[in-house]
Order: sequence, then C-alpha cells, then structure tokens
Amino acid sequence: MTDRITWIGALDPTLRTFDVILKTANGTTYNSYIVRGSDGVAVIDTVKEAFVSEFLAKLTQVARYDELTHLVLNHLEPDHTGAVAALLERAPHLRIHVSTRGLQVLRGLLKGDFDRYDIHAVTTGDMVSLGDLTLRFFTTPYVHWPDTQCTFVEEQSVLFTCDFLGCHFCDERLFNDAVGDFRFSFEYYFDHIMRPFRRHVVEALDLIEPLNAQVIAPGHGPILRSHPGSYIQHYRRLVTSRLMRETGEEKTLLIFYVSAYGATEQMAQAVCAGASDIENVRVSLFDLQGGELLPFVDLIEEADGLVFGTPTINGDAVRTVWDLLSNLVDIDTTGKVGAAFGSYGWSGEAVPMIEARLRGLKMRVPEDGLRIRMYPQADEEESCRAFGRRLAQHLVGRMPPKEIDMSELFAAEN
Ligand code: FEO
Repeated sequence: MTDRITWIGALDPTLRTFDVILKTANGTTYNSYIVRGSDGVAVIDTVKEAFVSEFLAKLTQVARYDELTHLVLNHLEPDHTGAVAALLERAPHLRIHVSTRGLQVLRGLLKGDFDRYDIHAVTTGDMVSLGDLTLRFFTTPYVHWPDTQCTFVEEQSVLFTCDFLGCHFCDERLFNDAVGDFRFSFEYYFDHIMRPFRRHVVEALDLIEPLNAQVIAPGHGPILRSHPGSYIQHYRRLVTSRLMRETGEEKTLLIFYVSAYGATEQMAQAVCAGASDIENVRVSLFDLQGGELLPFVDLIEEADGLVFGTPTINGDAVRTVWDLLSNLVDIDTTGKVGAAFGSYGWSGEAVPMIEARLRGLKMRVPEDGLRIRMYPQADEEESCRAFGRRLAQHLVGRMPPKEIDMSELFAAEN
C-alpha cells in the first residue's frame, strides 16, 4: 500500500452469504495490514479463522514474529479476530490495543488467557509510537458494534476503519481504482450494516473527515486510495433521508393494516379519522395487501409514529405484518411511537404479539393495543377514533395526564 504499510488480508471469493443475512454476490475480503515504523511493527486487525494459514503466510513474508510489537483490533467481530489466537501463540509479547468497550469482548474471545497478555484500552486522542510513525486512535462506537474504532497512521495519512466505509466485494486487485464496479456493494453494505446506526455514522464521519486521509483502508472490500473523501461524502448522502421532507414541523403517523373480512380495515379507517382530528399530525393509511414492503421502510424511517393493524389468524398476526416488521431491523426505530390494533374472533393474540415486537424495536408503546371482537359497532368505532386521537396527541406532546383511579390503586395494593 505504501513503503511502510502492507496488506496481509485474505480473499474469500466464494462466500455467498455473510452473517446469515447479507448476500455477497462475489464474496468478500478480510483486510489486515502491517505497519512498519523505525521502532515497532504493528498488525492492524486480522482475518476470519478459516484463513489463518493464509494470513500467517502473508504476514511472515513481510515481518518476523519477534519484531511485531503491537496488535490493533479496531473491531472484535470474528471475521476480524479469527487469527488473533494463532498470532498471539506466535507473538505473545504483542501489546494489544482495543477500545474500552472492546475489552469485554476480547475477554470473551481470549477466555482464561486474557490476563496473560499486555492489553490496553484506548480512546480518541491516544497514540502509540512506532518510532517514525504514529498510530492515533479514534473511538467511533456503533459503526456498527459498540467497540468499533478507527486508527490513523498520521505520517502516511492512512486511516484504518474496519467495517466502516467497507463493503463485501472481493477483487484481488484490491484498490478502488483497480477493482470492478463496487458501487452497489458499497451501498448494500451501508444499508444493511450501517443504516440502523445513522446517528453514530454521522458522529464517526465528523470525527474522521478532518483527517483528510489520503487512503482509507477498511476491513472489507476495496482499499480507497483514489478520492477517499468522495466515499465519506457518499456516506453523508446515504445517512441523509432519501425522502423529501414535506411535513415541516408536522409529525407523521403511519397506519398499516391487513384485513381478512373488512373488520380490521374498518378499525384502521376509524383510527385514521381520529388521529387526523389532531392538528400538526399528518396521518397516512396503507393497506399492506396493496403495497411493496421495501419502499415502506424508507417511509417508516422518517415517521414519528407507527400503528399496525392485524387480525388474529391461527393465534398469530398475519405474515405480511411480520414481514414488514422484520425489515425494520435495517433502520433506527428507537423512540418512535408504536401501537397495534386488530379485530379477532376467539383469542386475539396478534395485538399483544405486535406490541411486544414494537417494544423489541425500542419503540415507545404508550397506549394499550386495541382489540375488537368481530366487526366494530358504533361505540367501538368511536373507541378506535379515540385511540387514534390519543396516539396523535402523544406525537405532539398534547396527551392529557393520565387520571389515576385511587380506588383501583388501593384495591390493587390490597
Ligand atoms: Fe466485518 Fe462487524 O465485522
């Protein structure tokens, strides 16, 4: 890569699925690097365990084990730490640098051997001298694990970012100006790995952008030596909403439903009508049987409140609703208002099941779900409208304080 920095990673061209969920049409790479200073040699990250032999063979072509001084682990996931044990067996004197949050994962990785090694927690501003080269650490949590950090070799202007700014794209030509077209892989990787952590991505970009690194060396995919800054700008575009913000200061409430015989649809329309009574809340109603799910994910990412209506069929919510909810793992739903409603015949489990899922997605579920047996009658339709009104009021902070029935409270205590 430079006169002092060498790639010692592994190519995995036949991998087709990464971490169970990610498709990798032409495989991936596990990038590891050696940095040679006048007074110290550092290894930056390692590779997946299946590639240990290949990694050690590459390493020993450029350095002896006894001259290695430092091991930097920017992220502890196994695809980057699979060769740590093998490396430490051969170079037990290595001083290991991880982020503070990385310590506990490293302890889990090394088990009983943890205390045998020289392990240092580092944070933004900490430096390690390799003589004429310096490693500077930047704590960049949640891109995409709590432990993630970047390491900058100041004198060479090379920034090691591990997963951040990486992608699953395997091409032995290694450099972004030499490999095939990896734009799709770069965005796909962002969508599935970084997108749920958009706020942290922005913080990390703010931290590293001023470095003006001449080379960005990620843990997967091409090394970005040509126009590295344009990849930072591309990340900035990706973290920005893909939707035109039309609502100004208004809050947005999305109501999704599926209906078997029209009863849940009737409820949905009443919830929608009630929510629409509240000023400064823009309410939208979607029948999931008439829509593609993926475009809804962008919409949901920008929404303030989400309501899901589903009948109970065979003791469960209907599959389309679960499918939409399963797509939400790629976005940040923390703190959004969530709610569920639905018609049922016998047991009505679907609503509490959906509520539990919403809580699992870290949404706020301020109202108990609304269930109506069979078709809603006039008074029940009114309770749907009231439900919608209350949800909308939660969005604009105008929900009246809850009235506590003291007699019920005392009855509960006794
Ligand atoms: Fe490439 Fe999060 O591991």
